[in-house]
Amino acid sequence: MNILLLGSGGREHAFAYKIANSPKCDRLYVAPGNAGTASIATNVSIGITDFPALKDFILANAIDLVVVGPEEPLVKGVADYFASQEETKALPVVGPKQKGATLEGSKDFSKQFMQRHQVPTAASATFTKDTIDEGLAFIRAQQVPVVLKADGLAAGKGVLICETIEDAESSFKEMLLESKFGAASEKVVIEEFLSGIELSVFVATDGKSYKILPEAKDYKRIGEKDTGLNTGGMGAVSPVPFAKGAFLKKVEEKVVKPTIEGLKKDEIDYKGFIFIGLMNDNGEPYVIEYNVRMGDPETQAVLPRIKSDFVDLLYAMGTGTLEDYDLELEDFTATTIVMVAGGYPGSYPKGDAISGLENEDGASLTFHAGTTTNPQGDVVTNGGRILGITGKGNSIEEALSNAYSRVNEISWKDVYFRKDIGQDVLNYGK
Ligand code: AMP
Ligand code: GLY
Repeated sequence: MNILLLGSGGREHAFAYKIANSPKCDRLYVAPGNAGTASIATNVSIGITDFPALKDFILANAIDLVVVGPEEPLVKGVADYFASQEETKALPVVGPKQKGATLEGSKDFSKQFMQRHQVPTAASATFTKDTIDEGLAFIRAQQVPVVLKADGLAAGKGVLICETIEDAESSFKEMLLESKFGAASEKVVIEEFLSGIELSVFVATDGKSYKILPEAKDYKRIGEKDTGLNTGGMGAVSPVPFAKGAFLKKVEEKVVKPTIEGLKKDEIDYKGFIFIGLMNDNGEPYVIEYNVRMGDPETQAVLPRIKSDFVDLLYAMGTGTLEDYDLELEDFTATTIVMVAGGYPGSYPKGDAISGLENEDGASLTFHAGTTTNPQGDVVTNGGRILGITGKGNSIEEALSNAYSRVNEISWKDVYFRKDIGQDVLNYGK
């Protein structure tokens, strides 16, 4: 099969690695890709939302399968576009159509979906400029902290956890009246605060049946012990011991099944990944959010644990034959440490040379979007998240030790990474 993968992050490098290593893959193209995908596939400089140019490329290169990494092209209708064009209407695409992608594109839509299909989630209400007074009254009736969410896509920054009612009121007004998150905050969801420990659950579906992929724990905050600003993700661990057994069973019964049934009832044709962000509150799962794609960096810890052929999985998702796919998993633990530019998620320098990339001591290395190659051919920093290092082991401790020993060999000016990835999971319940 000739495969076209869309995206440029660590997630896409991890996908590309897995796809390129499958005997089912002939040629792999990544649009636009990054410095990592360039070494295992062919990067193509086409924008991920330039649908006509993507179609031309697909036809010229006899592409058999398209895999969409990030949410933006999905929310903008890339799958609908290919389905609407005569020459590409039969092309299998991994990634939902626009309606399904609204589960991530609109928090209001996803809350309504969860309420309609009895998926456990935090109580909430949605407000606009026209209902600002009702919204303020609603805030005043809440316990603190109060959670405010911009309805639309806001690059992971649209969620505010307000510790006081006054802070919630002023942020709510900024979102609706001063477009704090642009058009994304024309609607604001006000939500009850959930306490507990978070978990990312990944589901592959073809709209009819589903397979639950390895779960992972993500580390969203920049600082150790989950302090400071939210980031795209600073590390990941898979599997997650607290999720094993009873809790994951509950997630399947109370969350995954009603979600898949809900898609069917609402006639949403969904072929793709569903990333369910969950809170485990004393053993009970609550959905924080749906994403319509895999997580990054979680993918870097999840994909190595898939033993059965990954291209077969993608093809089964895209062609509606997932029921016949046998998902086999690896037993080992994988832990990923994300190395970022000093200053991220605020402002940071670019163009710093990265040293130590040539050492290969067991842990695998994934390039994030924040890498590029300079005219001399050296890999230099070019963004916030730079590298992901994934170590494997028979325990979390062993996997972490393998990952950190490679992390410690790599550096650039002002490199930063969290040293406490996995510690909360190791200490959970102690
Ligand atoms: P989201 O963009 O919806 O994933 O939210 C970003 C992060 O904010 C989540 O990963 C949680 O850490 C936190 N968060 C969102 N909603 C809630 C909530 N209702 N209660 C507690 N934390 C939340
Ligand atoms: N790591 C969280 C995300 O991909 O959104």
